[in-house]
Amino acid sequence: MCPAPVTAVGRSVPRREGADKVTGRARYTDDITVQGAWSGRTIRSTIARGAIRSITLDPAFDWSRVVVVTADDIPGDNVVQLIREDQPVLAPRGGEIKHKEEPILLLAASDRATLEEAATHVRIEYELANPVFEIGSATEVFSTVEITKGDVASVERTADLVVEREFRVGLQEQLYIEPQGAIALPEADGAFRVVGSLQCPYYVHRALKRALKLTDQQAIVVQAETGGGFGGKEEYPSIVAVHAALLARKAGRPVRLIYDRHEDLAATTKRHPGVIRHRTGVKKDGTLVFQDIEIVLDGGAYCTLTPVVLSRAAIHAAGAYSCPNVRIRARAVATNTPPNGAFRGFGAPQSLFAAELMVEHVAEQLGGGVSSVDLRRKWMLRLGDTTATGQVLTESVGSELVLDAALKAATTFQPSNIPTVRRGRGLSLVFHGSGFTGSGEKKLSGTIAMEALADGTFRILTASTEIGQGTKTIFCQLAADALGVPLERVTIAPQDTSLVPDSGPTVASRTAMIVGRLVQEAAAEIKQRLQRERPPLRVDKSYIQPDSIHWDEATYRGDAYPVYAWACTIADVDVDTTTGEVRVTDLVTAVDCGKALHPVMAEGQIEGGCLQAVGWATIEEIKMKDGGYQNDRLATYLIPTALDAPRIRTVLIENPYSRGPFGAKGIGELPMDGPAPAVIAAIHDATGVWLDEVPATPEKVLAALNGAQRREAAQS
Ligand code: MOS
Repeated sequence: MCPAPVTAVGRSVPRREGADKVTGRARYTDDITVQGAWSGRTIRSTIARGAIRSITLDPAFDWSRVVVVTADDIPGDNVVQLIREDQPVLAPRGGEIKHKEEPILLLAASDRATLEEAATHVRIEYELANPVFEIGSATEVFSTVEITKGDVASVERTADLVVEREFRVGLQEQLYIEPQGAIALPEADGAFRVVGSLQCPYYVHRALKRALKLTDQQAIVVQAETGGGFGGKEEYPSIVAVHAALLARKAGRPVRLIYDRHEDLAATTKRHPGVIRHRTGVKKDGTLVFQDIEIVLDGGAYCTLTPVVLSRAAIHAAGAYSCPNVRIRARAVATNTPPNGAFRGFGAPQSLFAAELMVEHVAEQLGGGVSSVDLRRKWMLRLGDTTATGQVLTESVGSELVLDAALKAATTFQPSNIPTVRRGRGLSLVFHGSGFTGSGEKKLSGTIAMEALADGTFRILTASTEIGQGTKTIFCQLAADALGVPLERVTIAPQDTSLVPDSGPTVASRTAMIVGRLVQEAAAEIKQRLQRERPPLRVDKSYIQPDSIHWDEATYRGDAYPVYAWACTIADVDVDTTTGEVRVTDLVTAVDCGKALHPVMAEGQIEGGCLQAVGWATIEEIKMKDGGYQNDRLATYLIPTALDAPRIRTVLIENPYSRGPFGAKGIGELPMDGPAPAVIAAIHDATGVWLDEVPATPEKVLAALNGAQRREAAQS
């Protein structure tokens, strides 16, 4: 008998950087020692809105030991290169301050003590202006999105029941284990090398070029081992890198700029909070007639990636359902709070939270024994159905598969036997587009390269980063199988912009599916060429949009994503009626990932995302004070620890996507979408009260329980 072919894809092989991480050999930014490097620090605004009247460096302090950088020291444009030109690298003298913690001045010194002392000798005087903190009073609009399908107005009267609800979602901190940080090193020919904790080397590359007026070659960005990102290292590292490079330029020596946790929590981007209103019309038998949805997201003081977050929120707003008449009106507004930005899910967790709870409300108001699961079965998008943007789903639609699998995997429900604890169960069904929104992938045209080397090994060159999710391992698995060689013969080049092409940012659930497919294609081409050529040789591969994908940016019609991943989540909660505390005890999630390239890491990513969503749903609350975050320390910003984590069980469903590598679809963000509405539905199941908002903190739960009690008492 022939031995079975040993393949890498689908096996949970050891992760590439795993041994270094568990033995402590891995070098995170702060672990890297650089001879003669100084330390940097950012001086930030203490007001939410106003103008800088004066900056005074106390003459009593010896400034000869300190490098000071202001907006006047920026050789290029004083702009953080992203979507809009609104955010300055450093607030210009006399210019407007738009939020608390806005960077004004940078300092560097040879030792931290001098640096800290210098910081206390900077005085900034402001002209105060009236800040805007509430979405309701915001006047500036960053962007709007309108999606129209059918005609809501003309069918409104044909609905037997119309349900209206308003939902609120809160800020959330990504809370990667490693805070933001970068080291900038001046090099020959006016170049700067920046080594840092980041998701998107080429975003940082573009930002450096713009602010420091550098050529492509003069800006070199290298990703150090990175301790998590979750979107939080999508755009913010551009600011850290530019600041470090400005200090290094003026100091004429390397400068390390590493945030401590407090600064990281106080100053960096958060998930967009918002308000979502739904009006849903149905027939008596539950047939969906129309969905009318309004979304308002708070972008904070600067635009960052807000228009794209809003776009993803809007596209997912109708939920995983097929409705003939849909109107979605979404807008993102500006407030004088620190800018909000990318966070796993990118708007979809916000809008899907509302969409999923709407199913619950409609089922409850319909009555007649129709459960919300029945409604989901009736409404869910199936093969051949059309989404809100008019996209016809032609393959890999896992809605029913995940619903059935989750229901099957759920344990028998056991009511609580503690008198003060009520137990409940909730379910959600969600979908999430894999890859960039609309024509994003086409515009980006991500490129990778692969080399066949003379020693018989193969090297993958991509800018896609390892941020804990497994990029390095799965790329090698894909290449090894496509080449038909053992996994050990495939290596991956460092994420260094002077070495690797721009495969696009590591975001948007696109790395495994979009970039992974390029890796597979490049490997297949190398394998072919090796039949007639000898190594070394190199193949470059760029993303080419399939002809079958059509998207109209102007009307928001068409194929919003190449494909969707699907998830059904069932959450069990215990609600303590004396304290209002919610404990998520058990979570089952069935995920249609197309193909699990590495089952253990796929499960890990799903468990991590679910836990992050449980945190958002229950305890992760940011309290605002004067436009700043009040609980900006780990002691006060709580996330679930191992003790708080529910038992999470994942069921992986492989429903292949024809253009994904070995059938795989992106699932990086999807696990963040489903748990929050399932938890809120479970709280209702346990207690009979609806919260319609996250986080469901003990205070809010208790207030809702007391309110329900008062209503009951008043009625009897
Ligand atoms: Mo992101 S939230 O890194 O797509």
